[in-house]
Amino acid sequence: MLHPRGKIYGVEPQRMEILITGASGKLGMYLLREGPDQLVGCSRNPPLQSFGRSVERLDPSDLDRLEPLNPQVIIHTAALSAVADCHQNPDLADQVNHLLTARLAHWCHANGRRFIYVSTDMVFDGESAPYREDANPCPLSEYGRSKWRGEKAALAFDSTLVARIALMVGPALGTGRAHYDQLVEQLRAGQSLSLFQDEWRGMISYQDAAQALLQLCRQPVTGIVHLAGPRLSRLELGQQIAAKLGVPSLVTAGWRSDYPAPEPRARDLTLADTRLHAILPDWSPRSIASQLDAWLT
Ligand SMILES: NC(=O)c1ccc[n+]([C@@H]2O[C@H](COP(=O)([O-])OP(=O)(O)OC[C@H]3O[C@@H](n4cnc5c(N)ncnc54)[C@H](OP(=O)(O)O)[C@@H]3O)[C@@H](O)[C@H]2O)c1
Repeated sequence: MLHPRGKIYGVEPQRMEILITGASGKLGMYLLREGPDQLVGCSRNPPLQSFGRSVERLDPSDLDRLEPLNPQVIIHTAALSAVADCHQNPDLADQVNHLLTARLAHWCHANGRRFIYVSTDMVFDGESAPYREDANPCPLSEYGRSKWRGEKAALAFDSTLVARIALMVGPALGTGRAHYDQLVEQLRAGQSLSLFQDEWRGMISYQDAAQALLQLCRQPVTGIVHLAGPRLSRLELGQQIAAKLGVPSLVTAGWRSDYPAPEPRARDLTLADTRLHAILPDWSPRSIASQLDAWLT
């Protein structure tokens, strides 16, 4: 695909500088760890540990400072990613998840660079799973709505790939804590957990999602692609972790209706990922259960 300025979107592996926005985030840290030497991160608060990769102290909205980094591909992970934060501050959610995405996508298009926008299964309402890439979004939360606005803005440019990822699971590599870390801490402390038996996601590890995104950098694909692992309920995830920790009785089955939330929770956000398998035939996500031994040692 030839850009008006004569640059080619996509495959130039030997000189491919990949820029990761939100490098201190949970996915950002896995991308730093798994990525090739030609990868740089940008972060408003660079992490202490960056796996030998350079991370620039830079707000991704500062396009003048982005330019000298000369990325061929941007993987845009920076986001207001907590559902509760977006609900409490919809203006900030729009600014980060939508407007910042639109600016970066425009910059990439104008400069002949590829743009990979990391989006979410939460653009769907959970009533018609499994969702293919051409399914109609209908988000239930402010987070999902802001990410969908980000998708639409980014897809206005034919240099964009929107990678919708299912719920990511695994230990945080930086100083922050992932949802998985909280579950493990609570179970290790002997705390009983009631987890939803009526909420399903195609859960994928941060590591597998990062590796798939990095492989997608080498493919001249645009549009939308879904990245997901095997379908699991919240309850099944907790049961698998509790069984590995030797405390299976601490996890009991709950219902979403037992825990009223300010925004509705989607029932089943399982993603169909056949397009990804066609693009990356040698890639396949591992089950969460198969990775627990490595995470818990
Ligand atoms: N977690 C999941 O299960 C999941 C599932 C599907 C999709 N996603 C998407 O995947 C991406 C990464 O998720 P994550 O779990 O790694 O999120 P995260 O840990 O919250 O990291 C997001 C990063 O975004 C940057 N950021 C936050 N607020 C910002 C602001 N106001 N302006 C600019 N940058 C800001 C921060 O990085 P710096 O401080 O380094 O700048 C932050 O560490 C997000 O786009 C999210 O929507 C997540």
